Amino acid sequence: MAAALTGAAARLAEAGVESPRVDAELLAAHVLGIGRGRLLLVDTIRAAELHRFEELVARRAARIPVQHLLGTAAFRHLELAVGEGVFVPRPETELLAGWGIEHTAPGATVVDLCSGSGAVALSVADESRAARVVAVERSPAALAFLRRNAAAFPAVEVVEADVTAPGLLRELYGQVDVVLCNPPYVPDGTAVPPEVAEHDPAEAVFGGADGLSVIRPVVALAAALLRPGGVVGVEHDDVHAAAVPALLTADGRFTGVAGHPDLAGRPRFATARRA
Ligand SMILES: C[S@@+](CC[C@H](N)C(=O)[O-])C[C@H]1O[C@@H](n2cnc3c(N)ncnc32)[C@H](O)[C@@H]1O
Repeated sequence: MAAALTGAAARLAEAGVESPRVDAELLAAHVLGIGRGRLLLVDTIRAAELHRFEELVARRAARIPVQHLLGTAAFRHLELAVGEGVFVPRPETELLAGWGIEHTAPGATVVDLCSGSGAVALSVADESRAARVVAVERSPAALAFLRRNAAAFPAVEVVEADVTAPGLLRELYGQVDVVLCNPPYVPDGTAVPPEVAEHDPAEAVFGGADGLSVIRPVVALAAALLRPGGVVGVEHDDVHAAAVPALLTADGRFTGVAGHPDLAGRPRFATARRA
């Protein structure tokens, strides 16, 4: 087993995979049906398992995201179903979700815009005592994963809609406690790794020429949805450390606009309170 793992990690490193050893271990654990931590205890691997492992390693070397090969993505305490057609949730978004959870009081109404697989909405439902979590997503492929992942969370209501549509969720105007959003925000034309370019849907990644085409209407929607004192958190690109706080400030309906870094120290999300 150790030799198979070392060989696989070398092959993945050669293919340019960012975390070759971890990915090799995740794939091996998946094939063996055990937790990654238990791999150390395995000294032999059956021929059929080795074949399956090598197949998966070859696909990973072709830069298919490891989460697509596993069929799941880990996010905070959840294992979310993911695959072609849905954005793979990223570790940095766990911070936005955590901020949202901290600001969700028992009985609160939370809206997650651009829900994708449901990473943010379902984490809030899982880790808070929100009464209602509304998850809004437009893509039919993403909605299929979102509905599947949300099935275990009765507080979560999935809404199929375009977050830029005027008057969206009008019935909730002025009543929402927390609005969260991890929108597409990469400026069009930015170079991205093959896993992203070929397997994350473009509409989940790119946010127009300046990367702000979804964030702009989301700021206005958040202001309309939130009750006075309610809060909003929006994830953004590294290049938007000034732009997104400026949009929140320019709206005129928010106070306490703040920027937050991710674990790597890069500017990652902005928050504000509805005046
Ligand atoms: C960056 S992904 C985030 C997904 C999820 N919130 C997460 O953090 O993993 C952005 C999501 O927004 C969706 N989306 C893009 N434009 C949208 C729009 N105008 N209305 C609704 N959803 C949209 C995409 O389909 C994608 O699922």
